[in-house]
Amino acid sequence: MHLLNKNPESFINSLSFLDPDEIAISAEKAGEGNMNAVFRIQTNKRTFIAKQSFPFVRKYPQISAPIERIDTEYQYLKLVEIIPELKSYSPKILGYFPENYLLLLEDFGPGSDFTEYYKQSKQIKDQVIEELIAYLNQLHSLKAPFFPDNMKMRELNHDHIFRFPFDENNGLDLDSILPGLQKASLPFKMDEKLKSRVASLGERYLSKGDTLLHGDFYPGSWISTESGLKVIDPEFGFVGDREFDLGIFVAHLIFSGLNENEALSKLDNYNPSFDSSLTLAFAGVELLRRLIGIAQLPLDLSLKERVELLQLGRKMILA
Ligand SMILES: Nc1ncnc2c1ncn2[C@@H]1O[C@H](COP(=O)(O)OP(=O)(O)OP(=O)(O)O)[C@@H](O)[C@H]1O
Ligand SMILES: [Mg+2]
Repeated sequence: MHLLNKNPESFINSLSFLDPDEIAISAEKAGEGNMNAVFRIQTNKRTFIAKQSFPFVRKYPQISAPIERIDTEYQYLKLVEIIPELKSYSPKILGYFPENYLLLLEDFGPGSDFTEYYKQSKQIKDQVIEELIAYLNQLHSLKAPFFPDNMKMRELNHDHIFRFPFDENNGLDLDSILPGLQKASLPFKMDEKLKSRVASLGERYLSKGDTLLHGDFYPGSWISTESGLKVIDPEFGFVGDREFDLGIFVAHLIFSGLNENEALSKLDNYNPSFDSSLTLAFAGVELLRRLIGIAQLPLDLSLKERVELLQLGRKMILA
């Protein structure tokens, strides 16, 4: 397989994709991202995004990761492309080269993602929240009986969300993130009642539900562009419990400064019926794993505030 990150321009030029009078002239990293190679390709006529997956995490090659995640992303984008209400939120598929695990996508331009909402000074706007809920209303009402089960990606995510953060001997030095965090994490790693509830939520995550999920519905997957809000990176998509997408969403509303009741009440505009205690439980796990797991966020929070969120997460899981 040709590697996109070795010489992106010549790789793109070698594909039967560009117009006869078109040539790729430069390539740059499209933005922050860890899993895949994602480049903005500039030709003499246009720009587009090239995304390639590898059998490992691009930034951490020692961590293996399922290469077929690019196919899940392709299947998801192909599905939403035919739904008028969702189409405008996703990049158009320009080309797909499965033998090279390569997807070519519409470029929304160098917009910024929403991770700035983790800064305490910045509150996520109601209008953005409403639009994201409108997106979930449409997505969660789709029928997708043939969608890939994406089980290997779920197993990878399961490990990072439901197991690793709660493992006392996981080897992650939390003090290197914030001094004192390691000790503060111990009560959550030694709480057997909590761990057993988290384990059963993890089982739910791995079981089949009836709703097509984005699977990673958090500010890193939303970008703000000149043509409005976009939702990208559905490589963790699968057919599961709608409460998983909702829970992740609620957790990140809490990280952006809302309390749990405010965050939950934002779902008043969400149409499908859902289980609010399961939503809060998934949200609680997401709070915990982002605070004491490997996938950290650019949070602007003191140790005391983190401990309060850890306690809130536990309460939401055990409620
Ligand atoms: N269609 C697009 N238009 C504009 N920018 C994009 C587009 N797709 C991706 N990007 C930029 O590239 C970054 C990485 O893309 P993406 O999140 O799809 O990669 P990833 O490797 O799956 O990342 P992660 O490690 O977060 O899963 C995005 O955060 C965004 O800044
Ligand atoms: Mg991704």
